[in-house]
Amino acid sequence: MKKTLLIASGAFMIAASTISLAEDTKPDPSIAYRHHAMELTKDSLISMFGIAKGKVPASELVIHMNVMAASAASAQAAFSKKAPGGKTLDSAWENWEDFSKRMDKYVADTAAFAATADKDDATQNAAFKQVLSNCKACHDKYRQEMKRH
Ligand code: HEC
Repeated sequence: MKKTLLIASGAFMIAASTISLAEDTKPDPSIAYRHHAMELTKDSLISMFGIAKGKVPASELVIHMNVMAASAASAQAAFSKKAPGGKTLDSAWENWEDFSKRMDKYVADTAAFAATADKDDATQNAAFKQVLSNCKACHDKYRQEMKRH
């Protein structure tokens, strides 16, 4: 009896340690979330290019402006968890003040762009240029280099 109990409790301990190990090594869900927020930005950008090329009606632009602004806001929220991993370089967490300032600017610029929905082309183009200035500047510093497909 005693022996059975000992074996059972041993098995329990192993199971318990496996569970806690699994929890420790599970990636933080905010990593996938921020990845999808960025992918959403990319998708809205591709749709905007389609509009610029005249493949999609210009009346659709406002939708993608708002998607982009919303995706920037959700990226900001996801990054604020400061979960190491994904394609984010550790330098982002080490230089958090700079990184989060860039995020703030990105959120502000995408919102400002969305606010030009009913403005003339020149105003929209200037705001769009401002939005695009954020992407590469941040990626070059804080994102792992992408492999070309
Ligand atoms: C303040 C920094 C910052 C800004 C601004 C920013 N990004 Fe990112 N982006 C990142 C980081 C960091 C990652 C990696 C996230 C991860 O996997 O941990 C990323 C990932 C991505 C990815 C996913 C690529 C992959 O395979 O992981 C895409 C697409 C992307 N960004 C597009 C954009 C576009 C387009 C813009 C501008 C409109 C933009 N980003 C603005 C920091 C930024």
